[in-house]
Amino acid sequence: MLVRSPENAAIIYLQFLLFYMSVLPERYTVTAALPYANGPVHIGHLAGVYLPADIYVRYLRSAGRDVKFICGSDEHGVPITIRAQKEGVTPQQVVDKYHALIRDSFKDFNVSFDVYSRTSSATHAEVSSGFFTKLNDAGQFIEQTTQQYFDEKAQQFLADRYIVGTCPNCGNENAYGDQCERCGTSLSPTELINPRSMLSGAQPVLRDTKHWFLPLDQYEPWLREWIIEGHKSDWKTNVYGQCKSWIDQGLHPRAVTRDLDWGVPVPVPGAEGKVLYVWFDAPIGYISATKEAFPHEWELYWKDAGSKLVHFIGKDNIVFHCIIFPVMLKAHGEFILPDNVPANEFLNLEGDKISTSRNWAVWLHEYLADFPGQADVLRYVLCANAPETKDNDFTWKDFQARNNNELVATLGNFVNRAAVLTHKFFEGKVPELGELTPIEQDAFAQLSEFPAKVGELIENYRFRDALAEVINLARLGNKYLAETQPWHLIKTDAVRTGTVLNVSLQIAAALAPLLEPFLPESAQKLAAMLNIELGNWTSAGRPDALAAGHQLQEAALLFAKIEDAVVETQVQKLLDTKKENQLANTPVTPAKDDVSFDDFGQMDLRIGTITAAEKVAKTKKLLKLTVDLGLEERTIVSGIAEYFIPEALIGQQVQVLLNLAPREIKGIKSQGMLLMAENADGSLALMQPSVPVRNGSSVA
Ligand code: MF3
Ligand code: ZN
Repeated sequence: MLVRSPENAAIIYLQFLLFYMSVLPERYTVTAALPYANGPVHIGHLAGVYLPADIYVRYLRSAGRDVKFICGSDEHGVPITIRAQKEGVTPQQVVDKYHALIRDSFKDFNVSFDVYSRTSSATHAEVSSGFFTKLNDAGQFIEQTTQQYFDEKAQQFLADRYIVGTCPNCGNENAYGDQCERCGTSLSPTELINPRSMLSGAQPVLRDTKHWFLPLDQYEPWLREWIIEGHKSDWKTNVYGQCKSWIDQGLHPRAVTRDLDWGVPVPVPGAEGKVLYVWFDAPIGYISATKEAFPHEWELYWKDAGSKLVHFIGKDNIVFHCIIFPVMLKAHGEFILPDNVPANEFLNLEGDKISTSRNWAVWLHEYLADFPGQADVLRYVLCANAPETKDNDFTWKDFQARNNNELVATLGNFVNRAAVLTHKFFEGKVPELGELTPIEQDAFAQLSEFPAKVGELIENYRFRDALAEVINLARLGNKYLAETQPWHLIKTDAVRTGTVLNVSLQIAAALAPLLEPFLPESAQKLAAMLNIELGNWTSAGRPDALAAGHQLQEAALLFAKIEDAVVETQVQKLLDTKKENQLANTPVTPAKDDVSFDDFGQMDLRIGTITAAEKVAKTKKLLKLTVDLGLEERTIVSGIAEYFIPEALIGQQVQVLLNLAPREIKGIKSQGMLLMAENADGSLALMQPSVPVRNGSSVA
């Protein structure tokens, strides 16, 4: 039987400590998917990858763990070369531009990487080509010559994305060599009907080319054991499910080299003009970034069994991080494997899939331009609504509601009341804690449980639930204030009022470190208001965090209400995008049959100036116009009333077909026709000379 003595207590504590230390990893290596440097980052990136990763890392640091948070730009791959070609610049110029933009966006949103590197760095070229060489020397690759499309005009092999043709499945004439975006079928270039090169338009020809393949199939038994047996219960079901279905479908050798001139050259004689496949070099980027920033320690984080490796990614990256990269690491032999890959689903925007090419996104840099100083609000909304288990939708209405109801009315309000009342009744000094009634005892008991509860949720990658708990702590505070009503109590019992505010301030003080992983700027503001250091996780939630007599700083508002007009502007911006896309996607009507030069010459086209314009009574579309055509004025009836205000037309020059046979319209004789350009949405625009010309000038 256990004897309760101080000695025993000490032994039990020591045993607990040893147990705790043996379960805890010695250190953490946390990576966030390297974003492609071919466009800015948007809310989907932040919600799915960078925010959860940052919350996890900030929590670990606060809990005193040793952690490195690794990221950088993914600067290779075909899409970058395509963009460069479209914009008439070099791939290096493309990645320089977006690397800087992305890096700054992350900084502005306080994503606290220990290193943000890039895969065009010299260290990366060295590390990734060394990795390839090691596998190659160990005979880990299969070399195989296959046939691949070659563009004879452009004198180069074509990556799958560089080939378009007709989809054998749905007939889409613009399907890509790897996928038809209309029906979603994944394709190989040789399946395309009438393939054409996107570089030159030429019909490509098949040519022999040699590549290096990673024999994934040989690793199938190991993958079954490691993932299907080993990670059944600790990996997220969406991640585990995707891996299992991949493995069950049978794995095949996968080419890790490409015929391309942008990337890390294949470090083998006879491989000129070939580079490492972007999905081979990019994940090695995690390792090279660590090496670059921590040249003396990096190996501990990648090779020591005491390190816990966690990859934060979006769901489209699952097979690369759970199957292909681990096989690479395993084949190499010196590296640890990921302990977990907490991939998220996708975030939609106002009911539609986020899309860079359709500009359907909230770009991080644009958000900050419109909401300066409010990075935390977006962090809050994206975490509260994170696509952790299924795709989710971001709407501006929800953004506004969460800010106004949760941040302003719940969190901000509690903290503000506690501070303001302390200033009002106790000159901003933390009052003495007097006798505790059951309400206080209960509040303190609940408070003490929060750090462990929130921490455990974070360690299990349940960031939404963790954040909801932090808000619950503010709710606890509000409920306590509502029950005790210090603003009334002060009239009858100053001592008890002091106790109530002391308890409230202890709750507010606990909120600072608990909020920090989620809303770092607000947590700092809160700490400044309470005049304390942020503090760390391990000491959070103590009933005596603030000593009696401690002086608070001025009370400030942590959050501000967002008005309807502000979100309406954002919604309007999206509606405009939608309209632009519709216009851009409306097909141009096909050309009409040829006419002879003589036929064309019979048309008498002139420039004139509108001198009068009025609506034709009892019609919706018709305007009666008077047009000065130099030698004469003519009356023309035109069906343009829906698109122009009559007064605005007066004085405008227009193009007129003079010799269209006159017609009577609504009792008015119309002598000629106004020429207009028709937009895809049916709206009309005047055809005007680029500089004013004399009325009656002919158009030929
Ligand atoms: N650039 C890829 C994407 O945005 C992610 C690369 S992750 C890495 O989908 F592991 F390869 F780096
Ligand atoms: Zn198709």
